[in-house]
Amino acid sequence: MPTLRAAGDVWLWEEDRVIPRRVLLEQVSTATGLYTMLTERVDRELLAAAPRLRVVSNMAVGLDNVDVAEARRRGIAVGHTPDVLTGTTADMAMALLLAAARRLGEGIDLVRSGGWGPFDPHLLLGRDVHGTTMGIVGRGRIGTAVAERAAGFGMRVISHSRSGGIPLPDLLREADHVVVTAALDESTRGLIAEAELRMMKPTATLVNVARGPIVDSDALVTALREGWIMAAGLDVTDPEPLPPDHPLVALPNCIVVPHLGSATHRTRAAMAGLAAANLVAGLRGEPLPAAAP
Ligand code: DGY
Repeated sequence: MPTLRAAGDVWLWEEDRVIPRRVLLEQVSTATGLYTMLTERVDRELLAAAPRLRVVSNMAVGLDNVDVAEARRRGIAVGHTPDVLTGTTADMAMALLLAAARRLGEGIDLVRSGGWGPFDPHLLLGRDVHGTTMGIVGRGRIGTAVAERAAGFGMRVISHSRSGGIPLPDLLREADHVVVTAALDESTRGLIAEAELRMMKPTATLVNVARGPIVDSDALVTALREGWIMAAGLDVTDPEPLPPDHPLVALPNCIVVPHLGSATHRTRAAMAGLAAANLVAGLRGEPLPAAAP
């Protein structure tokens, strides 16, 4: 905040809830810079309501909430927060993979409910992660960092992305575990739907640390219920937040956490700092330290 206050007048939404759209539209009418999170939709309507806007700084690496093309058309710079969250998000992918494949959610529930009896060699048998094949969908910075971690587990890594790798059906059939790290855009929305889930191994785990709408939630519920795949570990969902009565929440073979991929003290501070630096640079008409690709 000191960085921003030093750069000009700051209006801050201080309430502990998402800013109502009406308030946001009012406030942007005079703003020259806008600092957002993924909860704010920076679309045509908003950009049209902000005639003085010079820069939008999104405190996230994902830019699916921002109409970047429209901002560019209007000469508005757009910043985001790559790199600083890569390792932290890749750690979360591994945590979810291990937790889901080794059935940690069910184990924790059993202990908490008082159901832990004498050692049972058949209890909650999961699937190995080490020494298996990981399929990564989206081989950008985070996908690459996940691959590095997978190598430490002796995993073979195959990947699919816009820019290369193997065809998605081949990846889904071959991988023992699938991790989604792709950016959300029109080419990845619904990428993993019924047909794709049916291609996966019945022993496979699906992890999503990217954006919820890349995976079709209804199809995933059926896949988990009917055993097309073994388990899922989700940091992101569609819808988000996931209502507590959503079927994914109740499924024992699905671990859901509330979009915590980049949620560590150090990474959050780095994201906030980079987003502030982007905003200040944009206000000064300088190149942003991390401009939207
Ligand atoms: C991102 O940066 O896009 C994460 O999903 C939110 O921290």
